[in-house]
Amino acid sequence: MKILVTGGTGFIGSHTCVELLDAGFEVVIIDNLYNSKEDVVDKIETITGKKVTFYKADCCDEEALERIFNENSIDAAIHFAGYKAVGESVAKPIKYYENNLMSTLALCKVMGKHNCKRLVFSSSATVYGNPASVPIFEDFPLGPTTNPYGTTKLMIENILRDLLISDDTWSIALLRYFNPIGAHKSGLIGESPNDIPNNLMPYIVKVANKELPYLHVFGDDYDTPDGTGVRDYIHVVDLAKGHVNAVQKVLSSTGIDAYNLGTGNGYSVLDVVKTFARVNNIEVPYQIDPRRPGDIAQCYASTEKAFHELGWKAEKGLEEMCKDAWHFLETTKK
Ligand code: UD1
Repeated sequence: MKILVTGGTGFIGSHTCVELLDAGFEVVIIDNLYNSKEDVVDKIETITGKKVTFYKADCCDEEALERIFNENSIDAAIHFAGYKAVGESVAKPIKYYENNLMSTLALCKVMGKHNCKRLVFSSSATVYGNPASVPIFEDFPLGPTTNPYGTTKLMIENILRDLLISDDTWSIALLRYFNPIGAHKSGLIGESPNDIPNNLMPYIVKVANKELPYLHVFGDDYDTPDGTGVRDYIHVVDLAKGHVNAVQKVLSSTGIDAYNLGTGNGYSVLDVVKTFARVNNIEVPYQIDPRRPGDIAQCYASTEKAFHELGWKAEKGLEEMCKDAWHFLETTKK
């Protein structure tokens, strides 16, 4: 079986390619390298000992997609390609709506034309907005979202639902990620933001590496055990494995369904900072700052649906996530 992975050289995409190859799938990547590097393809091949077909092209480019479908017999697609920086999406909404929606529309158009109607979409827990309670179940109300990035994810989920209403031979899984962190054990692939990171773990890694002086902890007055924000951090390799199960699901059924991919455990900012410092034996200086606008107190998943319907659950704990994130940085420095 051959799987098209859009955005396959990115953080989650690259780990998913590794797991797909290990599970015996063939992989075709389309990526414009907007936020990643071509050598990730070599690294995926080194880790797995298998070949990948790589197209450097934009997923909004219908002609490029046509060429890929003409040159490869694609059985299903996983759609990661998209912009994902929350803050930038507030400053440049048109850029986000244009890219994230156009790439999805182009992909679905070309897939439909080639009668390849099995799709896994990279969504986000951000579609739940500010949930009324935790854990978050898949049937919780969606939105209102708090930024254009999140709105693109919700809009795409709705577009894909309409697609299925129009043609029930499609099979679509919407995967709502919680907070993916960590890196592959090899240290060859991981998360490497170019600018000052917005997300917690990449920021901690830069502080530990002395590239940034200290971590700003955004608020210690939330209604949580230690007052700092609580999130469901999930090891990116566990998350990647969830995609393999989702691909198997869409290959063997029709319909559309949403699944949370999280661990079901909530950890606070200080839990993460302290665990990172302890397991890596390194200092992570921090100071308490005001809350970040748009942040919520707590967010963690109910994992029952993914377990019962995809046969998947996360296995790695916070210590391993922290060790692997640091190991990736150390490997990159060599
Ligand atoms: C954010 C996005 C989410 C997106 C995800 C991608 C929002 C509202 N949500 O999730 O849509 O899918 O990133 O990974 O922006 N924190 C600090 N200091 C920092 C950075 C973060 O204290 O320098 C805290 C935050 O306040 C939060 C926790 O760490 O409590 C996690 O933050 P982050 O990694 O940015 O993820 P989310 O905000 O949960």
